[in-house]
Amino acid sequence: MIFDVITIFPEFFCGILEHGLLKRAIGGSYVSIRLHDLRDFAEDTHRSVDDRPFGGGPGMVFKPEPLFRAVESIQAQQSGRRSRVVLLTPQGQVLNQRRVEQLSREPGLILICGRYEGVDERVAAHLATDEISIGDYVLSGGELAAAVIMEAVARLLPGVLGNQQSAISDSFAMAAASPGGGEAAGLLDFPQYTRPAEFRGWKAPEVLLSGNHQQIREWRAQQALAKTYKNRPDLIERLPKEA
Ligand code: ADE
Repeated sequence: MIFDVITIFPEFFCGILEHGLLKRAIGGSYVSIRLHDLRDFAEDTHRSVDDRPFGGGPGMVFKPEPLFRAVESIQAQQSGRRSRVVLLTPQGQVLNQRRVEQLSREPGLILICGRYEGVDERVAAHLATDEISIGDYVLSGGELAAAVIMEAVARLLPGVLGNQQSAISDSFAMAAASPGGGEAAGLLDFPQYTRPAEFRGWKAPEVLLSGNHQQIREWRAQQALAKTYKNRPDLIERLPKEA
């Protein structure tokens, strides 16, 4: 999977590429990440990439020309299937695990980090294939959103987490009964405990120490449901109805 990230802050990504899952995914050649400085595609000597909004109003808007040039120069180097072009803005469709799974089946993604008060709408209309938001809140730019997408997609690529984990997350049938299965079932994951068995008087549930795997599975399924009811009742509404 190749991620091409278009940003005015390429250095923003240094930290996240040098740690954790993305570092491992890059090191294992599952993923390559190319950072493109939008200012390199500006047309003037000041390398300007934004301008005042038509119709007035505060702030600046990303101009279309540098973004079209950046994407088209990346596409010109691609042979075979084209990468989807994902524009990250608070106006996009909200990201969820199903969308992440779809994106993980692509050969590559071009991620455009929006900035300032917005991006000229011709980018969403005629350049991007997808417009995605990572949630109903406003960040000052799309860089964090691009990082979220790369991490969420990379962990689904076969081999990145080890095959067992990725197989589980593809399986709807495993539901909440296995770690990571909750997300595939549309439920939150069940609660986890580790040593010590008692901490400040709070005990880990005895069933988890029992060695009875059938009971553990049932407890976890029931706890996942309870957690989802408490924190995300909207997810319960969306579960497929039993026949
Ligand atoms: N840019 C600013 N806010 C954003 C959000 N919530 N999602 C994606 N990109 C953004």
